[in-house]
Amino acid sequence: MNKLIGFTRKFSSSAALNSVKTVTVVGGGLMGSGIAQVAAQAGQNVTIVDIKPELLDHAQKSIQNNLQRVAKKVHKDDPIKMEQFVKESISRIKITTNVEEAANVDLIVEAIVEKLEPKQELFNKLDKISPEHTIFATNTSSISVNAIGSGIKRKDRFGGLHFFNPVPVMRLLEVIKTESMSEETYKIMMEWGKSVGKTCITCKDTPGFVVNRLLGPYSAEALRLYERGDASKEDIDIGMKLGAGYPMGPFELADYTGLDTNKYVLEVLHKLTNNPVFRPIPLLDKMVSEGKLGVKTGEGFYKYKKYKGEARLARTSTNAFQCCVVLCQSSQANIACEDPYCILVTKSDASAKDIDTAMKLGAGYPMGPLELADFTGLDTKQSVLATLYKETQNPVFGPIALLDKLVAEGKFGRKTGEGIYNYLEKI
Ligand SMILES: NC(=O)c1ccc[n+]([C@@H]2O[C@H](COP(=O)([O-])OP(=O)(O)OC[C@H]3O[C@@H](n4cnc5c(N)ncnc54)[C@H](O)[C@@H]3O)[C@@H](O)[C@H]2O)c1
Repeated sequence: MNKLIGFTRKFSSSAALNSVKTVTVVGGGLMGSGIAQVAAQAGQNVTIVDIKPELLDHAQKSIQNNLQRVAKKVHKDDPIKMEQFVKESISRIKITTNVEEAANVDLIVEAIVEKLEPKQELFNKLDKISPEHTIFATNTSSISVNAIGSGIKRKDRFGGLHFFNPVPVMRLLEVIKTESMSEETYKIMMEWGKSVGKTCITCKDTPGFVVNRLLGPYSAEALRLYERGDASKEDIDIGMKLGAGYPMGPFELADYTGLDTNKYVLEVLHKLTNNPVFRPIPLLDKMVSEGKLGVKTGEGFYKYKKYKGEARLARTSTNAFQCCVVLCQSSQANIACEDPYCILVTKSDASAKDIDTAMKLGAGYPMGPLELADFTGLDTKQSVLATLYKETQNPVFGPIALLDKLVAEGKFGRKTGEGIYNYLEKI
């Protein structure tokens, strides 16, 4: 081979920086079809691969419907542009059941079933048939990215691109940076994420990444609060919406995500971290065994035939209200700052700013958990946690070295000009 051509091919990813033009999405289900849509909308040529032809047809139809909705919003006064937008975006999408036909692209995003072996098998095969410059990414929510790519040679061109459901709507993309990933691949992934309209945050290959790691203890604490009979599910939902400004209460969110998915994520996090925060919840197990999986089965914590989209306004008991807000927020701040098993910030699995951005864009929170801690006052947070820990002995509320250190240094948050963030620099 001509030396120059060989050089260009091998390092074509440098030239491809900010210029991923061809993408393959393997798995044309809920997530894969959304990923394909946002890439096609951004002007990239996309191939969707699925083992089931009927799912490919379904993916195409749902993308077409979604694009029509987007077109109405973007070009509302111009029917010609509307039609052109849909037609052009759709024309960029191909479908196939044969992954070999789709291996020669700049980027391959895997969104198949959430099981380790099929994901490994797929990447091992792709590694053999894709050109050298092709970057691989997995959209896994809970499996170790390193484990998924353990059999491939191109570990420097492999990582996680964790989208949120529904992909065309949710603005967040978690870019999972493994130790073997090259800086160049990382930059290409970040640029590509931006090109498909997402705000990217970076996290190491750590269980649950940022959003699921923080949502796990939050929903687990809410479920336990309800299981113990401390507050009704309606009151807890109202509490978190009105007291914390969350777009949905934890029970509404659990029903929307699927109780089976919640159970699965908790199990995986428990196995990976051995953190008792993620221990099994008998109520959740019972509901899943009864087939009450949430919106998708018509019943979860709420019934959906009569469900009008908003939890009924129940009378809110002040105690339950305050208790659940404090419990849920504390558990997240605790996990985010430090817990005995995972120190997202201090171990630098993710930056404070990325953790806050992730929770705002990935979970719709009005403030990130660390911004909120600074806003509340770290000294106040420390006292509240100490009281809750004394009363419950729940490790979620256990001492946080980072918090103790900041408070000892007089860094209480906004009120002193410095806490987790430095507010003085902004003045
Ligand atoms: N559903 C969510 O909210 C969500 C959010 C973030 C990430 N994820 C992750 O995205 C991935 C896909 O999830 P989903 O909800 O889209 O699942 P899904 O069941 O809707 O779609 C998976 C698709 O993959 C296809 N498939 C299975 N094995 C295949 C193979 N070997 N080759 C090609 N196609 C194959 C299936 O036929 C199916 O169409 C999972 O890893 C999941 O954890 C899901």
